[in-house]
Amino acid sequence: MAETGWKRIKEILDESIKQWEQENGRTPALKVSHDGGLGWETKDQLARSAPFDLQLIEPDKVGNGKARETNLIKILSRNVGGFRRMPSRGPYLSTEEIEEIATWIDDGMPD
Ligand code: HEM
Repeated sequence: MAETGWKRIKEILDESIKQWEQENGRTPALKVSHDGGLGWETKDQLARSAPFDLQLIEPDKVGNGKARETNLIKILSRNVGGFRRMPSRGPYLSTEEIEEIATWIDDGMPD
């Protein structure tokens, strides 16, 4: 199988927000809910987003088997500190989708 690239990762995240909108009947207030910001128009924006000072993809955890220790992979999988699993109250990403993102980070976040 071809290596997963950024386009696929963006698709997974965009799709999760679509599912959330369907479930909740409204657009999520992503900006006001995530002090410090959250976005993924580009992979750099995703990596640098740091809601509540929790940088989503810490540079020292990219490309070296540490993807599962990033705040992004942690919060998509379970609560982190005082914060509940994201997207808030679900629907959550599937284990397969979370694994796809983790593998992409371990691969060095290819385009
Ligand atoms: C370290 C990372 C993150 C932190 C600390 C965080 C924190 C929060 C907090 C405090 C809220 C508002 C209270 C609540 O509804 O629980 C929230 C809402 C939300 N978050 Fe996150 N979040 C993070 C990452 C993410 C990611 C990666 C996604 C999407 C894949 C996401 C999707 C959402 C959604 C959809 C809401 C609901 C917004 C609304 O009700 O309008 N969050 N988040």
